[in-house]
Amino acid sequence: MGKEMRLDRLLAEVGIGTRSQIKDMAKKGRIRVNGATEKKTDRKVDPARDQIMVDHLPVIYAEAEYYMLNKPQGVVSATEDHVHETVVDLLKKGPDGPVRTDLFPVGRLDLDTEGLLLLTNDGELAHSLLSPRRHVDKRYYAKVEGRLPEDAAEQFEKGITLLDGTPTLPAGLEILKEPAGDGVPCSEIVLTIHEGKFHQVKRMFEAVGCQVVFLKRLSMGSLVLDEGLKPGEFRRLSREEVERLKRDR
Ligand code: URA
Repeated sequence: MGKEMRLDRLLAEVGIGTRSQIKDMAKKGRIRVNGATEKKTDRKVDPARDQIMVDHLPVIYAEAEYYMLNKPQGVVSATEDHVHETVVDLLKKGPDGPVRTDLFPVGRLDLDTEGLLLLTNDGELAHSLLSPRRHVDKRYYAKVEGRLPEDAAEQFEKGITLLDGTPTLPAGLEILKEPAGDGVPCSEIVLTIHEGKFHQVKRMFEAVGCQVVFLKRLSMGSLVLDEGLKPGEFRRLSREEVERLKRDR
């Protein structure tokens, strides 16, 4: 037997309507459970066992859904916000967007950070990917102002102490480009970290006297940003991507 849940919650999660709309539909006899009209929307159902129909069409309840978003700047990694658009709003707007209402971002990227963000309703996977004990790798591309210290890669390799005294785990720094006499103003780097402290990348560079002026997440564990996705675009994860992510935890 699967997990029991309230009928109105299940129908709301798959996007049939709000709870009050669902109540109204039930009153009008539009909802059936196992062939019988059901008017009580607070009753428990088991999506694995019970057959639920709305307007004579079966309701398919997929347990979990997974999307990768190329988060653009100016959008908040949250499900709700009073000021800014959220990553969940972005998904809802897309032509292939989910109709589910229970998706949330796995971790946070700053308002001005771009790149890979996983959205799902799989709380168990999210929890284990974010667990500080698992050290799931996160790779970032950054443009950094100011000259990196000669020994920056060694310092990152040993673990940087942030300006407030917080130690960080060893991180892999790859320098792609350094400021040169030809007017290139920033270093371009790829940094791999194994934890997710608040503003971690920006604070690590601050600790070596540099400022991050552009930040984009490239990967999280085995999940790599699909470079075909422009900022603001998203797609469902493939079955293989989901399986690999589950093995990362
Ligand atoms: N580190 C940061 O400083 N910001 C992010 O958004 C992600 C990692």
